[in-house]
Amino acid sequence: MIKKGIILSGGMGTRMSPLTKAVNKQLLPIYDKPLIFYPLSILMLAKIKDILIIVNKGQLNQYKKILPDGKRLGINIAFKEQESPKGLPDAFILGEKFIKNQNVALILGDNFFYGQYLTQKLIDCTKMKKGATVLLHKVSKPELYGVAKINKKNKITLIKEKPKKKFSDLAITGLYFFDSKVVEYSKKLKPSKRNELEITDLLKIYMKKKALKADFIGRGGAWLDTGSIEDFYKTSAFVSAIENRQGFKIACLEEISLLNGWISKKNILEAISFYGKCEYSQYLNKLINT
Ligand code: G1P
Repeated sequence: MIKKGIILSGGMGTRMSPLTKAVNKQLLPIYDKPLIFYPLSILMLAKIKDILIIVNKGQLNQYKKILPDGKRLGINIAFKEQESPKGLPDAFILGEKFIKNQNVALILGDNFFYGQYLTQKLIDCTKMKKGATVLLHKVSKPELYGVAKINKKNKITLIKEKPKKKFSDLAITGLYFFDSKVVEYSKKLKPSKRNELEITDLLKIYMKKKALKADFIGRGGAWLDTGSIEDFYKTSAFVSAIENRQGFKIACLEEISLLNGWISKKNILEAISFYGKCEYSQYLNKLINT
C-alpha cells in the first residue's frame, strides 16, 4: 500500500520568466486555482493523506500562505526546501526521513492529469507492494519527455530520456509509484550529461530487476504538462472549458476531502472564510447547501 506522496515543486521555472521571477511557477494560476492544487488533488484522489511538498529555497512562506498545513483538508502537509534543483530522484534523497522506509508516490508539481477512470486507476496503483509503477501516455512529441517502449505483454523493454530518435510515442508521465528501495537506489545514481539525477535512470534500475510495471492513462484521459507559457494557457483553457460546461470544479481540494470523508461541513465553512468572498468560496458554499 502507498500512503505517502511527494510533490516535487522546485525548479526555477526559467522557461516562464519573467512570470516566475517573483512567484514560483506552481503558485501561478491554471484557470481558477494555483497550479499546485492539481498535483495535490491527484494524490488526494489516490487517498494519500501524508504529503511532502519539496519547494525551492526561499519560497516556503509563499506556499504556506495558500497551504498552511493541511489540517483544514484533513491531511498532513510537510514542506522541505531544496537548495538547488538536482533532478527528480533527489526528491527521495531529500525525503528520506519522510518516507521512513515505506512505499511512496511522486508527482511532479507541473503535471496535470484528468480523466473519468483516473481515480480508480490511482487507487489501483497505490495497492502496489514491491517494485515501481509508471503511467504512460501517447504523445505527439515524445522527444520532450522520458519515453518507454513496451512489448506485447505491456512490459517495458527500453527507456530513454528525451530521445532524439523516435522509438516509441509513449511518454512516461510525471506520476510514479515506488517501493521503499527507492531511497537506496536514488543515492546510487550519478548525474547525467545535463548534470541532473534522472528519473529514467532510476526506472532503469527497476526495469533491470524486472520490477517495473507500466500502466496507462488511456485514450479517455488527459495528461498535460505545463512547462511553457503556451502550455499553461492551454491547460487553463482545458480546465475552463470543462468547469464551465459541467458546473463542477477540477482539483477543488476541499470537495475531494469532503467526498473522501476526511473533513466535515464545518471545515468547508472554515475554508470559505479563509478564501474570502470569491467564486471558489461560492462553489464550496454550494457543496454544503445542496
Ligand atoms: C521530466 C522527466 C521526464 C518525464 C517528464 C514528465 O522531464 O525527466 O522523464 O517524462 O518530467 O513531465 P523534465 O521536466 O525534466 O523535462
